[in-house]
Formats: sequence, C-alpha cells, structure tokens
Amino acid sequence: MLTKPQDFPAATLLDGITLTVLSSDDADRLAAAYRRNRDHLAPWEPVRPDAFFTAKGQQAVIDAKLALHQADSEVPMILSEAGRIIGTVTLTGIVRGPFLSANLGYWIDAACTGRGVGTAAVAAVIDTARETLGLHRVQAATLLHNAASQRILAKSGFERIGLAPQYLKIAGQWQDHLLFQRIL
Ligand SMILES: CC(C)(COP(=O)(O)OP(=O)(O)OC[C@H]1O[C@@H](n2cnc3c(N)ncnc32)[C@H](O)[C@@H]1OP(=O)(O)O)[C@@H](O)C(=O)NCCC(=O)NCCS
Repeated sequence: MLTKPQDFPAATLLDGITLTVLSSDDADRLAAAYRRNRDHLAPWEPVRPDAFFTAKGQQAVIDAKLALHQADSEVPMILSEAGRIIGTVTLTGIVRGPFLSANLGYWIDAACTGRGVGTAAVAAVIDTARETLGLHRVQAATLLHNAASQRILAKSGFERIGLAPQYLKIAGQWQDHLLFQRIL
C-alpha cells in the first residue's frame, strides 16, 4: 500500500463539520443517513435495493470500500456533524502510471444543503488528491440538469470537457452526463 491511515487525518471543514475516512464501525450511522436521504438522493444515484438502507447492507458496502482503500484505488470519506453522517465525498477508480487520475463523487444531507458544505468537502478532497495521492487530475460527471453539482464544480476550478451519452445508469435509466476535470 502506498498510503497509510495516518496520511488521511480527520479535518474540520466548517461549523464543526468533520471529514474523516470511512471506518468499519460507521454502518449504523451511514444506513441512518441513507434512510433520511432516500428521496433526496434517488434522482441522482443508481437504484438501491432495500438492503442498502440497513446496517447489514452498509457493512457490506463499507467492507468493500475499505478493501479498495487498502489497495490504494479508492478514498471513501464521510462528513459528520453532531454525531450524524451528513454526506460522503469519495475518490474512486484511482489510476496511476501516466494517467494519475481519479473520479470524484459526493452527496450532502438534504437538511444541510446551501451552506457551502459540498464546496468545502470538494476543496478538501482535491487537496488530498494532490498532496497525499500525488494525482494529476480529478474527473467528475453530473446529470445534465444537476445545476447545484455543476455549480460546486465550477467554484472548485473544474472545466467541462464533454458530454458522455448514456454514461451511467441513474434512477434506473442510462443517462447522458456532462464530464468535468480539474488538472491539479
Ligand atoms: C449537489 C449537492 C452536493 C450540493 O451540496 P451543497 O452543500 O448544497 O453545495 P454548496 O452549498 O457548497 O454549493 C451549492 C451551489 O449550488 C447552487 N445551487 C443550488 N441549487 C441550485 C440550482 N437548482 N440551480 C443552480 N444553482 C444551484 C447554490 O446556490 C450554491 O452556489 P453558490 O455558493 O454560488 O450560491 C447536494 O445538493 C446533493 O447532495 N444533491 C444530491 C446528490 C448529488 O447531486 N450529488 C452530486 C452528483 S454529481
């Protein structure tokens, strides 16, 4: 493994919101967060089976993500406030060699939007991608009508690089996405 747990220290983002790497004892809190945000996230995510919203289902997701983190191909991070998980921000598909690139994904609890939390989380993970992982580039993809997410990317220095037809199966449909990148 190129990175170690201590390479990803907890950070305070704003208003007492902390950003930490996902841990194997987060399943209860994460399942609760996904249950609270099921309707909020449904238009922007793959269709989730009911098991996804249970602690057992989240334990399996977490175990898989931590295995990928150990292999240096993913950095799964959670945002917490007053003991609750209020969002996630994740680098996936980390590729080295001449690409040095990763994909960025995020969501923020419906009760916490509009406070700049998404933008602060993206800024922090960009720092991690550059400083800790030594990446050259981060890519993000949004649905064409996800104006809030596109605004975060614009504020975070991403540039639009194209439109990918039928790029991801979101809410049960293969949907076109706008692609953005930030060169680090
Ligand atoms: C998109 C999301 C992450 C935004 O989180 P957030 O914490 O509210 O983001 P921020 O407050 O940092 O910034 C949001 C920006 O979008 C703007 N915005 C919000 N809704 C908007 C809309 N409908 N049209 C245009 N801009 C909008 C806000 O005004 C803000 O910009 P500003 O700072 O210039 O005023 C959150 O709404 C979310 O989790 N949505 C569902 C999941 C999702 O879309 N994930 C991303 C998939 S690509």
